[in-house]
Formats: sequence, structure tokens, C-alpha cells
Amino acid sequence: MEINLNKLLLSLSYTLDFVEMDILGVSSNHSKRVAYIANTLGKQLNMDEKERFDLVACCVLHDNGVTEYMLKEAATTKTSKRKLVLENVKEHCIIGEENVADYPFLTDVTNVIKYHHETYNGKGFFAKEKDEIPLMSQLIFFGDRLDNVFNLNNTDYPKICKINKYVKEQSGKLFSPIIVDTFLEVSDKTSFWLDLNDDFIYNGITRTIPNINMTMSWEELEQVTKIFSLVIDNKSAFTLRHSQGLAAKAETMGKYYKKDNIEILKLKIAANLHDLGKLAISNDIIDKNGELDETEFYLIKQHTYYSRISLSNIDEFKDITEWACNHHEKLDGSGYPFGLTGDKLDFNSRLIMCLDIYQALMEERPYRKGLTHEKSMSILRDMITDGLIDGGIVEDIDVVFT
Ligand SMILES: [Fe+2]
Ligand SMILES: [Fe+2]
Ligand SMILES: [Fe+2]
Ligand SMILES: [Fe+2]
Repeated sequence: MEINLNKLLLSLSYTLDFVEMDILGVSSNHSKRVAYIANTLGKQLNMDEKERFDLVACCVLHDNGVTEYMLKEAATTKTSKRKLVLENVKEHCIIGEENVADYPFLTDVTNVIKYHHETYNGKGFFAKEKDEIPLMSQLIFFGDRLDNVFNLNNTDYPKICKINKYVKEQSGKLFSPIIVDTFLEVSDKTSFWLDLNDDFIYNGITRTIPNINMTMSWEELEQVTKIFSLVIDNKSAFTLRHSQGLAAKAETMGKYYKKDNIEILKLKIAANLHDLGKLAISNDIIDKNGELDETEFYLIKQHTYYSRISLSNIDEFKDITEWACNHHEKLDGSGYPFGLTGDKLDFNSRLIMCLDIYQALMEERPYRKGLTHEKSMSILRDMITDGLIDGGIVEDIDVVFT
């Protein structure tokens, strides 16, 4: 299949950007803005299309290690200083680099994510300096820093002057003189600043990034979405294997139903991404030790809507989007976010619905231990009696996983 991987990543980044908003307090659309700046400067610096294509991917993924690092940190400190510590630790760079090891880059991007916090004068986490830092890392750091310090969603003329002054002052310190000079050239363009606005950034980025279609198999696409499943699962200690576990069960059931290989891979992709929208939900709610109150439940119900927003721009994922995003609907119309009824829920949507509940019941939660297969089955059967989920599928789950 022909696919533009950057378009896929940018769609998925819709929810990834929420993580930075929540944890770092940075602006919305952060990774898109970083990608826009890095790509614009990269073009000016004569980077070729393939390099810039990879640069954009690295920009979208630059902080993919954040959720996993946060989790380790929360486990050891048991504090809520989440917002402060993150950018001061190098672990998220190392984890982020490891997570993209299997990503199908077109060029060599070794260490690009690992060194995205290095400063030109060698005062970063790994004390790399000048040309020791890959140019791509330098460009990511530049865009990241500017958006974090100045919030580039809103810029007026006085702010642009301030930014230019700051960048000049940092020449040879935080940033390489070449990047500073290149930036000052593009900073003169009205379009550069307008493109960074929330309302225009999607248009700006799709207009300027290289348009490269790659032939990819569904196996390779499944690998790419696995990166996101890691980020999602690492959002909370209680969901550490949730998406990955669901994907494994979806595969097993797909084989049981003798589905063809492509459909099974699509089911796995749906499982990998079904809780993508959870990235947009605060950990204060996801990790709450106890029952959610009405306000909190209202908020958590939004996650499947966000999953859908993220996935719906990907033309190749039409059926996958349905299977992934209907997982909290119920046959009697009492589910969320749409309240769809059984006649609107196809077999694979029902399958993911049932497996998601089964997977969740077997996992530990803040307020209970993981349940046994038997106990989980009895809860699922109660839900059949209440007209909520597909009885045939539940009995098949029992046969397959006993
Ligand atoms: Fe970072
Ligand atoms: Fe960032
Ligand atoms: Fe969910
Ligand atoms: Fe789930």
C-alpha cells in the first residue's frame, strides 16, 4: 500500500501533543510547530527531501519517551512534581531513542532523538557539542526551545522582535551560529509566523513538508503503531500492557475466526491505537485510587472521541478507526461517546469491545487486583444478560482463553 508516513504521524500527534500540554504546560500543537520550524530551516540549509521527511518524523516523535519516564519517576518519588522535572532529565531522550529503533526511517537518524536536548556549547545532558550533535537534533532543540519559551501559537510584532533578540544572544551558546543566521533569514517572512498559529499550523505543515509516499506492508504499519501503543500504555502503571495485551488477544481471536492476515493486522493496529485518546486525559483521573465522580467520568469518556479525531484523517484506516473507537459503545446504546446501538456496531467493533473489557478485568487497577479468567467471564456474562455486549463473541473468548 502507498502511504505518506508523515501524514499518519501528524494525525497521531494530535493526541501526543496533549501529553506535552499536560506535563510540560507547553502549547497545543507543539510537535507540529517544532516540525514546521525544523523543516523550514532544514530546507534553507539545503537538506534533501528524504532527510527532511525523517526530520519531521523525529520532530513529531521527539518526546515519545516522556510517558515512560514519567511513570518511572512517579513510582520512585510518589510526588506530583511531574510538571517540573521532566525536561531536566535525560532518561526521556534515551527511552525515546530506543522506542523508535524499528521505525522505517529513510536515512540514518541515529541519536537524533537521544540528543534533542544538547546545546551547541556542550551543556546538554550528554555534553555533546558543536558538530558532535546531529544537525537534526540541533534543529529539533531549536524549535522546541523557541516554542517552550515563547509559545509560538500567538506572536505579534513586538514578540517577534524579542524572539529575534533572544536567538541572536544564544548564537554559539544554545544554538549554532549557522542555525541562528538561517533562522534570521526566515524570521523576516510574514508567512513563517502565521503558519505557526494553531489555526494555520496543519495547513502550514502539510504545504511545506516533503511529500513522499512509501510502499508499506500492513506488517510494517503495525510496527509503527506499536510505538504509539508503548506511549499509551506507559501513561499509567495500571495500563502497562493494556494495548499490547489487547493486540495479542485480538490476533489470537482473529486466527480463531480464520480471518485473513491483513484483517488480523488491522485488528492489531486498532488494538494498538484504541486508547490513543487517553493521552489527552489527565493522569489525576486515570490513576485515581477510587471511584470516579461524575465530572471525572465525563472527562474520561472523552478519550474515545479523541482517538477518533486523531485517526479519522488517515484514509487507509477507515475500518480500523471504527473498530478502535467504538470500544466503549454498548449494544443497547448506553455506551460512549456516540451512544451507538447494536445495528451500527460491526463484528470487529464488537470483538474489540468484548476483548477490551476482558483485558481490563484481568489487569490490576488502583482500586482492585487483576481478576481471574472465571471471574472475568462471569462479569462479561452479566453484561450479555443486560444486553450490553455480544454473547457469541464472549462465549468464543471463553473457549479460546480458558
Ligand atoms: Fe524533550
Ligand atoms: Fe518538546
Ligand atoms: Fe478505552
Ligand atoms: Fe482500553
